[in-house]
Amino acid sequence: RRLKNVFIVTVVGFGTFYAYRAYQRYKWFHEMSDSDKTLGTKQRIVVLGTGWGAVPLLKHIDTSKYEVICVSPRNYFLMTPLLPSVSVGTVETRTVIESVRSLIGPRVKYIEAHCVNIDPKAKVITCNTDGDSNVSRGDDVKAILPISKREGGASSRIIKDSARTRPQFDMKYDILVVAIGSENNTFNTPGVEEHAHFLKELLDARRIRSAISDAFESAMTPTQTVEEKKRLLHFVVVGGGPTGVEFAAELADLVREDLQHYFPRLVANDVKITLIEALDHVLSMMDKKISDYTERHFRRENIEVLMNTFVKEVKQREVVVQYKGSTELKSIPCSMVVWATGIKARPLTNRIREIIGLNIQSNRMGLLTDRYLRVKGVDDGSIFAIGDCATIQPAKLADRIEALFEEADTQNRGALDIQQFRTLVEKKVAEYPQLEVFSKKIEDAFAEVDKNKSGYLTLSTLRSILEKADQKIRALPATAQVASQEGRYVAKLLNQASNVHSTDFQQQNLTPFQYKHMGSLAYVGGDEAVVDFTGSKPLLDYFDLKPLSGRSAVYLWKSFYFTEMFTGRTKTLLAFDWVRTHIFGRDISRY
Ligand code: FAD
Ligand code: NAI
Repeated sequence: RRLKNVFIVTVVGFGTFYAYRAYQRYKWFHEMSDSDKTLGTKQRIVVLGTGWGAVPLLKHIDTSKYEVICVSPRNYFLMTPLLPSVSVGTVETRTVIESVRSLIGPRVKYIEAHCVNIDPKAKVITCNTDGDSNVSRGDDVKAILPISKREGGASSRIIKDSARTRPQFDMKYDILVVAIGSENNTFNTPGVEEHAHFLKELLDARRIRSAISDAFESAMTPTQTVEEKKRLLHFVVVGGGPTGVEFAAELADLVREDLQHYFPRLVANDVKITLIEALDHVLSMMDKKISDYTERHFRRENIEVLMNTFVKEVKQREVVVQYKGSTELKSIPCSMVVWATGIKARPLTNRIREIIGLNIQSNRMGLLTDRYLRVKGVDDGSIFAIGDCATIQPAKLADRIEALFEEADTQNRGALDIQQFRTLVEKKVAEYPQLEVFSKKIEDAFAEVDKNKSGYLTLSTLRSILEKADQKIRALPATAQVASQEGRYVAKLLNQASNVHSTDFQQQNLTPFQYKHMGSLAYVGGDEAVVDFTGSKPLLDYFDLKPLSGRSAVYLWKSFYFTEMFTGRTKTLLAFDWVRTHIFGRDISRY
């Protein structure tokens, strides 16, 4: 009888499962034919990109109101916060990606292509399906092109040339959403493109993983000299922002937890990790306590941190650095260099800025938008920009800083003690979080402008700083958090708007975009993380949260990114990867 019950439960279980799958397929087919029937009857929204900005938009847009087409060279969404983990094998590559088709379903059409040009008057985009050097040096292009110039040839491709045909095409739009992200900024430093690794796309992470393995296997060659072994096992990370810090942390974990086991002598005598930062502290966008904690923690983790050190050139076997206040250049022998010194606008972003006019699109960081995220200078409001490629007009912030100056200058002298003014700006940050980004950037400018060391700041000096800063400053940080909130906001706005081309959204009771900062997280290695709640108003108001560091923070970090994984599939893979790494260690083979 028990056997009979087990049999019935099994049959019912499998039956339900297959019925559910059949229903899903039917629904998919039904939705697809529904959307085909309504083609040409609805306004068309074209979304460029499949990243943190585009995907939340595509998931929330009302497809019964619009025909939605997504164009992007990457047919998957990438969970960028886990890239440092992928680069050392803590997490596997397929865990951090999800096919865009499975994420957006059949009601949104996806086309794998780069947008290479936009005609805002005719409302047409031009798309190319091959690597176009004009699109970007960029990581999206690199993703299907050569593995690494460093590995001695630009010929190894992931995809072999097949008989595919993919002609260039034009596409009309009623509304265009630009969510094409950014690319790595090399500041034109010689040798970076040729010899350093970036960490922005999945292929970058795979290349780094191979390069680490390669360095260790090379060091094991019997005829290697001691000096050469030390060079081969010296890993350099340039940039102490969150990317550089998280990568250095993951690399130290790999060395301590796995490579030490396989290469005990090399790890004991020759391995070195150096993080080079131009400023006087790492994670400069976070609370000072967090920067200090990270630096102390890195010393414990055997990561050398060179502060106030500027990398001037990357060569094949060394980096050339200059220390602050010195004119001398020093050469540091090393093997793998990871370049993480921030981001810049993609060529397409700059092309759109030029088409609209650089007098209006004056910010080099990205496309200037209004508070509804509509690109400035496009009269009918038909182009939106979100994520890393966009920046909200920061003039309001400049006004606010000027107003603060006037507020502090009670005696109306037109000059203020710089230190006093800084303190005031810092105090106001809690009330108006966006000021934080602004105040940190202008701090260095203060010191530079105050060349006569008077210690005073005049209103005209402040204005000139703000004017210059306006062209370089992002009102909001370039993070996934900002991009996804913007994506969701634009979807909601378009769903609600009765007339999307009306210049007056206020009349339609549509509210401008308001960013809600939930805090910043970074993994610092040794199963520890740091969490900074500065500026996260909704949380601070209720709980008065202080910066967190250490083990407790890592649980927050892990649970946050676990819940952020888009689907059950990737959540399951991530959980398995963490358990696998914990029990069996990382796979260090080079493939
Ligand atoms: P992306 O996510 O980069 O997406 C851009 C999309 O546009 C891609 O699909 C690309 O293929 C496509 N595209 C490019 N060119 C074209 C074109 N010409 N035509 C059409 N499509 C195009 N942020 C956080 O908040 N927390 C973190 O922990 C965090 N960790 C990070 C770790 C790393 C290693 C990196 C590199 C970034 C991290 N970030 C983090 C930042 C975050 O990833 C970015 O801010 C976010 O990806 C920006 O989203 P986006 O949609 O603007 O761009
Ligand atoms: P970043 O701009 O945050 O930091 C770059 C660092 O490199 C700066 O500290 C700068 O002083 C330093 N630098 C620049 N040139 C240098 C040189 N020649 N020599 C030595 N140091 C030099 O860049 P990052 O880390 O690549 O981040 C890019 C964006 O992605 C940021 O907006 C960041 O907030 C976001 N991000 C967020 C993460 C998180 O929240 N955990 C993780 C990773 C990225």
